[in-house]
Amino acid sequence: MEKLEVKPGIYWVGVIDWDIRNFHGYLTQRGTTYNAYLIIDEKITLIDTVKECHFNEMLGRIKEIIDPSKIDIIVSNHVEMDHTGSIPKILEHCPDAKIVTSIQGEKGLKRHFKNLDWNLHVAKSGETMSIGKRTLTFVHIPMVHWPDSMVTYIPEDKLLLSNDAFGQHIAGPERFDDELGWDVLKEEAAKYYANIVMPYGPQAAKALEALGGLEIDMIAPCHGIIWRSMISNILAEYDKWVHYKTEKRALIIYDTMWNSTKAMAYKLQEGLREAGLPATVKFLGTNHMSDIVPDLMRSRLILLGSPTLNNGMLPSMGGFLTYIKGLRPKNRVGFAFGSYGWGGQAVGEMEEIMTKLKWDMPEESINLNYIPDPEELDKVKEVGKKLGEYILAQDE
Ligand code: FEO
Repeated sequence: MEKLEVKPGIYWVGVIDWDIRNFHGYLTQRGTTYNAYLIIDEKITLIDTVKECHFNEMLGRIKEIIDPSKIDIIVSNHVEMDHTGSIPKILEHCPDAKIVTSIQGEKGLKRHFKNLDWNLHVAKSGETMSIGKRTLTFVHIPMVHWPDSMVTYIPEDKLLLSNDAFGQHIAGPERFDDELGWDVLKEEAAKYYANIVMPYGPQAAKALEALGGLEIDMIAPCHGIIWRSMISNILAEYDKWVHYKTEKRALIIYDTMWNSTKAMAYKLQEGLREAGLPATVKFLGTNHMSDIVPDLMRSRLILLGSPTLNNGMLPSMGGFLTYIKGLRPKNRVGFAFGSYGWGGQAVGEMEEIMTKLKWDMPEESINLNYIPDPEELDKVKEVGKKLGEYILAQDE
């Protein structure tokens, strides 16, 4: 194993999970990393750990640098077990180490690790702790990603150890942004934010505000690469995302039984194109919902299509909308369409969810019986065009 010093005296001691492809429902086609950091100072400090099953790899990296019994402090920025799973095992090597966590972190750790008798220190937001030449500053960022989440800032190194914030699920030999390139990073950081942080936009905005005044030349998250050359790029993207800013573009999401709803989806796209609005089409049969969500995050107009099956929408659309209800995207314009043989409840069910999400729905939904006529499809296209014009007439 090679040592990786990210700043003088600060080492990456995380692990690369090359194999993971599903992170509780999020497709991680590029794998991921669990990043932990070891700070060599008067008080040897470990920032976060890794999933329990990868403990030995982390321990091997630590042993290359120091004897793990010398660890004085373990900062637990976030309770989720991809970052705390190895705390019990590392404590077998340094049983007196102090565990620093947030107020909610204490509660969470006690629920995850029963009967723990750890030397816990609960840090208030803004609290500082000297570890020698360096000062650790703990800033709570609740709900980015759990109520317990906090970041650790080291002013002497201008280093922000941001835990889940600014992460991306990417496994690879590269550790720094400039080794990989912005295109892949932007795509993965957007997917990560859209699937993990989007429901907590207001809290994420507050977190950004709290970090706004800090001098930062490196952001080291707990997943993926470390930001050092593209900090302004990622901060600019986060600023858009936390404020639910969208682009003038459309996203058509549909499933189909006998291709009637599919025909409507493509007619809507024709109309949108005629109006001049870019439109992406995603078929639920071939696109995983976690891959659709980044498009949903950037698109202002969302068109949902499902035929009626057994008096309701198709289960694929039902599952997708259950996921979306949880992610709570704001400031969208919505439209529902579908086909039916009898009953025809799918369109109403999709409308109901968009109403709950407080989306603007300027056009009446379209629900067509069995196979659409060419004239009906012309009307569908016309509605697509009107929706496109509606979006293009809006402010940026
Ligand atoms: Fe990477 Fe919320 O844990």
